[in-house]
This record gives sequence, C-alpha cells and structure tokens, in this order.
Amino acid sequence: PLTRSLSMSSLSGLPLWEEEDLPVDNLLLFEVAWEVTNKVGGIYTVIQTKAKITVDEWGENFFMMGPYYEHNVRTQVEKCEPSNPAIKKAISALNDNGCPVYFGRWLIEGSPYVVLFDTVAAAYKLDQWKGDLWDTCGIGLPNHDRESNDSLILGSMIAWFFKELTDQLGDSPNVLAHFHEWQAGVGLILCRSRKIPIATIFTTHATLLGRYLCAGNVDFYNNLDKFNIDQEAGERQIYHRYCLERAAVHCAHVFTTVSQITAVEANHMLHRKPDVVTPNGLNVKKFSAMHEFQNLHSTNKVRLQEFVRGHFYGHLDFNLQKTLFFFIAGRYEFSNKGADIFLESLSRLNYLLRVHRSDVTVVVFFIMPAKTNNYNVETLKGQAVRKQLWDTAHTVKEKFGTRLYEALLKGELPDMNTILDRDDFTIMKRAIYATQRHSLPPVTTHNMLDDTSDPILANVRRTGLFNARTDRVKIVFHPEFLSSASPLLPMEYEEFVRGCHLGVFPSYYEPWGYTPGECTVMGIPSVTTNLSGFGCFMEEHVSDPTAYGIYIIDRRFRSADESCNQLTQFMFGFCQQSRRQRIIQRNRTERLSDLLDWRYLGRFYMHARSLALSRAFPDKFTMEPLAPPQTEGFRYPRPGSVPPSPSASVHSTPHHSDEEDSDEEEPYDEDEELEKDRQNIKAPFTLGSKHE
Ligand code: UDP
Ligand code: G6P
Ligand code: GLC
Repeated sequence: PLTRSLSMSSLSGLPLWEEEDLPVDNLLLFEVAWEVTNKVGGIYTVIQTKAKITVDEWGENFFMMGPYYEHNVRTQVEKCEPSNPAIKKAISALNDNGCPVYFGRWLIEGSPYVVLFDTVAAAYKLDQWKGDLWDTCGIGLPNHDRESNDSLILGSMIAWFFKELTDQLGDSPNVLAHFHEWQAGVGLILCRSRKIPIATIFTTHATLLGRYLCAGNVDFYNNLDKFNIDQEAGERQIYHRYCLERAAVHCAHVFTTVSQITAVEANHMLHRKPDVVTPNGLNVKKFSAMHEFQNLHSTNKVRLQEFVRGHFYGHLDFNLQKTLFFFIAGRYEFSNKGADIFLESLSRLNYLLRVHRSDVTVVVFFIMPAKTNNYNVETLKGQAVRKQLWDTAHTVKEKFGTRLYEALLKGELPDMNTILDRDDFTIMKRAIYATQRHSLPPVTTHNMLDDTSDPILANVRRTGLFNARTDRVKIVFHPEFLSSASPLLPMEYEEFVRGCHLGVFPSYYEPWGYTPGECTVMGIPSVTTNLSGFGCFMEEHVSDPTAYGIYIIDRRFRSADESCNQLTQFMFGFCQQSRRQRIIQRNRTERLSDLLDWRYLGRFYMHARSLALSRAFPDKFTMEPLAPPQTEGFRYPRPGSVPPSPSASVHSTPHHSDEEDSDEEEPYDEDEELEKDRQNIKAPFTLGSKHE
C-alpha cells in the first residue's frame, strides 16, 4: 500500500519531504541520459540537481548512465569498482567484448554512481547495430547524422548491459530504468523489444517536432492538431530521429514530460498522453543568514560593475549607481528562446527611457554560445585600460598618503597645491589619454565567425542599438557560457545571475525553462512567458506573480507586436522602481523557492516509478487507485504587503531622485512584511484523493 509521509515546511506551508513508498532495498534504479556528466543544456540541470534527493532515498541502489567522454571523466568523476557483483559482471561482459564501460562516482552533491559507455571505442559495431535496429523496428539511420548514430551506439550498449544484468539477477531485485529524451530512447526500445525484464519510464523534455516547427516561425500552439507530423518530420530531415522518439514514447511503461503545456504538445506530436507530469525542480539551499542572497547580489554586482567600467571605458558618462543589469542566457535558439522579441523590446525601452529623460541606464547581457574565434581585441583592451587606471590611481594614492603622513608627523597640514608633483600629473594624464577611443564600445566580446548572418547582430544592426552615448540601453553579447577562468568576465554563471537585476526569458518554445527558475531561487526577478512550462506553473501556483518578481508575458493569445509591448512595459516599470522596491521584490522572489525545490517536486518522479513497477510487474507491485500527486490546490497568495493593484506598487510616472544612493528613505520593516505575508498563506494542499 502506498502511504506518504509528509512534513510541512514552516515558511511557505508547502509540504516538503515525502518518502519513497517503494521497497528500495529490493530494487535497482537506473537513470539514463545523454547529459549525465555531459553538459549541454537543461537536461544536465535536471539530472545533476535531482541526484541528491534520489541518492538520499536509494543510496547504493541508484545509478546514472550516460556517454563516456574522457575530459568529463577526468574533471568530474572518481573512478571506482562497483560493489554490486551483478553490475560488475555486466560491465565486464561489455569490456571483454571490446566495448569499454567505466564506473565511478560523479562528484556532485549526493555523489551518485555513474556507469559511462565509451561510444567512440564501440563505434566499430555501428553497422551491426544499425542492422539490429532495422530488423527490430524498421528504423534506419543515415550515415551523416552523427547524433543519431551516437545515440544508437549508447542505446545498444545499454540494452546489452541490462540483458547481462537481468540474466545475473533473475527476478530479484527488480530493475527500474528511467530514460530521458530521444537520445537515450534507443536503449529503451531495444530493452522492450528484446523483452528484457525491467520497468521503464521515458521522460521527454521537448518534442523534436515542436522544437523544429517553432523555430520555423509557425503558429504552433493554435495548430497543434493540424500538422501532418510524418510529413513535417520528413521535410525537416529528422524522420528517423522522430521515429526513435515516438517509438521510445510508446514502448515505455510510463511516459512523462516536464510540464502541462508539453503534455498537450506530446499528445499531438507523439500520439501518447503523458501518464505523469514531472515538473523540474532545483536543489534549493537556504542560507543560515536570511539576507545572505541580498548580500551576494550586492557583491557580485560590484564585479559586474568592474567589467562594465572596462567595457565602456571612455564612455562612462552614465551613473553606475543607477545602472541596471538585465540578461538572457541559454542555448542559442534565437526565436525559440525569445531573443527576437527581447531585442525589439529593448529598442522600444531605449526609446522610452530617452524620451522620458530617464537617468537609468540598462546594460543587457546576451549569454548565448555561438561560433567564435576568441575574444576581440577591443574588449580585452577595455579591461586592460581599466586595470591601468586602477593601478595609476593606486600609485598616486600611495604617494599622496606618504606625503600626507610626513606632513602630519611634522605637525603641519600639507600644502594641497604641491602635495602631488608634476610626475604624478603626468602619469594621470597619460592614463586618461589611454581611455580615448575612436569607436563605440563593442556589442560583442568575441570575434564572431558568422558576423554577418548572426541573428542577434543582425537585429542589433536593424534596431541601431550600437552602444552610443545617447543610448540608455547598452548591449553586451557574450557568445560563450560563463566561466570563472575567463580573462574577461571571470565569473561562474551563478555568480553572474546573482549580480544582475533581471533575467529576461521571453521564450516561444520552452517545455520548462530552468533559467527563470534558477533566478527565482537566487532571489533575482525574471521575465518568462505563458508558453513556457515554468511560466504556466508559476501562473498556476502564484496569485500575483508580478508582485513576486515573476513577470509572465502573454505570447499565446497576443501578436508578437503586442507581446513586445508587454515586455517593454514590464522592463520600463522595472526601471522605475527605487532601490528599496527592488530589495523588497527580491525578498518576495526568493520566497517562492520552496515551490521549486526537488524536496517538494520529487514526488512526481516517485509516482512515475510506482506506476512503472505496477505496470511492468503487476504481480509484485500493485498500486492502489491513487490519483497522481497534484499541486493545483496550492497557491501562493498575493503578498499581504502589496497594495491591491500590482501597478500601484511601482511608480506610475517616471521617477527621478537621488534615492539610489540612500537605501532607507522610507521606514521599512521587512520582518513585519514577512509576517503579514506568512499569515496570508493558507496552503490548501492536495496530494491525490487520499489526502484531501
Ligand atoms: N547555463 C549555464 N551557463 C550559462 C548559461 C546557462 O550553465 O552561461 C545553464 C543554466 O543554468 C540552465 C541551462 O543552462 O540550467 C539551460 O536550461 P534551460 O532549461 O533554461 O534550457 P535548455 O537549454 O534546456 O533548452
Ligand atoms: C542588496 C544589499 C543592499 C544593496 C542592494 C542594492 O539588497 O543588501 O545593501 O543596497 O542590494 O540593490 P540594487 O537593486 O540597487 O542592486
Ligand atoms: C529542454 C527544454 C527546456 C527544459 C529542459 C529540462 O532542453 O528546452 O525548456 O527546461 O529540457 O527539462
């Protein structure tokens, strides 16, 4: 029988932890994904952040599987011997046949075991395995599609591994395998067609056709039922991939996806309604000091300001105290990620700020990896110039200090007219001369390989956002993911996000969308849309998302132009907030973290696992007719401290004042605000019919 133990979290009223109701000691759980130890995009984040809660429940019986890449293993994995003899034997069987498999602990929180398959070394079997796939299910893979071929090799190795493993184990303990995304699907298809006795779950994080169709500028959501899907897949030359995806979906005992909106899409594109929606969580860490995340914002912002001082050298005629940092980040899918409407809205924002003579400047970072060959000279020079100014100031300060000290020792006040000599002035003048530049501060930080056809640059040219002095919106395109090893902007992505004021993710195609969720748990407001899984989830669970710093653009029922206007208004409104309002808003944003915590959202994975076992091994695992967990009953109320209309909480007219330099011009008791909000939360929570 399924019993669930719940404990209530104190602050939000959400139930936090629930124990797995399965007999985990007598089961082995495998989670398979191309992104295990191998970062590409959001699936890596799912796998990596969920590891801790899964290891907490499953301990030594949990294993992740993915491709072996030497570099990844060298930097992230501690190799070791498997303690489970059946796993050891299964690995040896592959190794002995020239298909290397590695075992170890992935050095992330929870230190899960990983089994990694060397698809390059096993590639000599590709032709044989292509034949097997064809004989099994009539899917043929073209030679030129490297990604499909790799997924076939990985899948064939994994199915082989499970065959060896289950031969060893007999029917105890039972094996449960959870496959993510089409690249991992081949393993599932082969296991099922070979009748290997394991329970299977397939989770899709997008549909191939959805992603392709949306990128092709079709009105996707209003025509979901009208596409001729086979033809569309064929025309886009992804028919074989589509077949793999669809076969995996239909072979799985349980099919899940990451959001309601993708569930509807999957039903149309893949012709199976997901059994469970498994929303993506994060491994939320609470600081012992409540306002630590505010301090982190402050210290990381200072680092971003330093970068900006260098990048805009010679053009620093804007006040950094009144400069806001916005950003967009993610894989470079220009229109799917909404970079198109973002740029258009930025150009409108620039206009609004200019005509209102606003003293606010917005520096906007685009963090989207594109093909480049290194940093560009002008950008590197900027940081060098900044460093030189700093050194000069430091040298002169030292001399000044020494002379001042000597004067004071003599009991005199120094003569301010002579305390600095001619040499001091010379080096200062030289340093200032070095800040002259004859070009505008660059839009990109790197040399782009496709400069002329790059969509961000093309739109920057179209809208004329060239970082002119008169522009209130400045653009910095960093076409590479961030890293603390960078000579230019040496920050990890997380530090960067913390230093910014607003993340802007106006996606058109976004099954979940981790980036705004990551902002939320760090207490940074963000913009999302009602076409992203995350945005819909927030709309469903938060009464007044805007008050909490979650701005949801309507991209579903409005034209692109109307969505741009809405985004522009959101950003313009954000620019009009005072520092104090921003601080309050960040506090509210951060309070939504519990909702995105795996300790809360992990229950949907648990439900999928129970369901899969009851379907695969009905004699052993029976499931009471328990409804899947639901979250609909829970809603964060409008914060008690917010006036009834959200617009009343921001200035309705442009607002000029010097308050940026003084935080506390109005009395503001944050604890009192928190208490008001807490009393407002009534948390009517349902978890299936049993608990109502
Ligand atoms: N990300 C990163 N470094 C960057 C920018 C983004 O590691 O410089 C990560 C980000 O933290 C997020 C992931 O990339 O976890 C993107 O996931 P999302 O679900 O938003 O989009 P996907 O790429 O899966 O479509
Ligand atoms: C945090 C810090 C404050 C700082 C503020 C700046 O809240 O704790 O000391 O004044 O950030 O906020 P801003 O939105 O202007 O970057
Ligand atoms: C996919 C989606 C993204 C989602 C991620 C993790 O790559 O594009 O929206 O957040 O998977 O589920």
